[in-house]
Amino acid sequence: MRKWVLGSEIRAKAGGKEQRAEDRVRPVAPRKARADAVAKARAVAPDLAARIGSTPATKFRGDPDIFGRLVEDHDRHRALLAMLEETKGKSPDRERLFVELVHELKAHAAAEEQALWSSVLRNPDTTDFARHAIAEHKEIDDLLADLAARDMASPGWIRRFAALREEYLHHIREEEQEQFVAAEEVLSLADRRFMRTVFNRRKQEEKAAAEVEKKIRFKA
Ligand SMILES: [Fe+2]
Ligand SMILES: [Fe+2]
Repeated sequence: MRKWVLGSEIRAKAGGKEQRAEDRVRPVAPRKARADAVAKARAVAPDLAARIGSTPATKFRGDPDIFGRLVEDHDRHRALLAMLEETKGKSPDRERLFVELVHELKAHAAAEEQALWSSVLRNPDTTDFARHAIAEHKEIDDLLADLAARDMASPGWIRRFAALREEYLHHIREEEQEQFVAAEEVLSLADRRFMRTVFNRRKQEEKAAAEVEKKIRFKA
């Protein structure tokens, strides 16, 4: 399989700037990478436990490229989902964690599409993988908007939340085990490192602009 050159195209578009010194990252031990990601989620509601359990195996955790960075976010999201599950009724913790979850998931998905999937989509060898990941982002977005439009205090809310949680856990497990593996094969190391920088920048901007959209989309 030939290496795709889109990464260098992206670098050229970004003004030919190569990675800045502060963006260069060293590998981190997987266990520490996971603990750091969980700690970021816990900062939102420090009194709650974040029992994320065992995570599906991935070779990317702690890597200094785009995939390591994306798995870091995924672990943070796993922790937010686990903490939300611990909440009861319309509590301040549930409200705060849900807003954080929406902002995180939206910003992550948008930055992931811009930094990674847009390039992977244009390579015929990996178009289908990218298309699949992007389609799931839309489904998750719809589930979040639906949940945001409903009464947090109702028993139905946590039931719907459980469905979203399953859908999202499925999405990130599949990314880590299938789509990232396929994408890695067509991207050079320089591309992957540079994409991490693009992701960080885009995610920061997207998170600052993220809003909680409320729209009932599903019946019953
Ligand atoms: Fe994704
Ligand atoms: Fe992701």
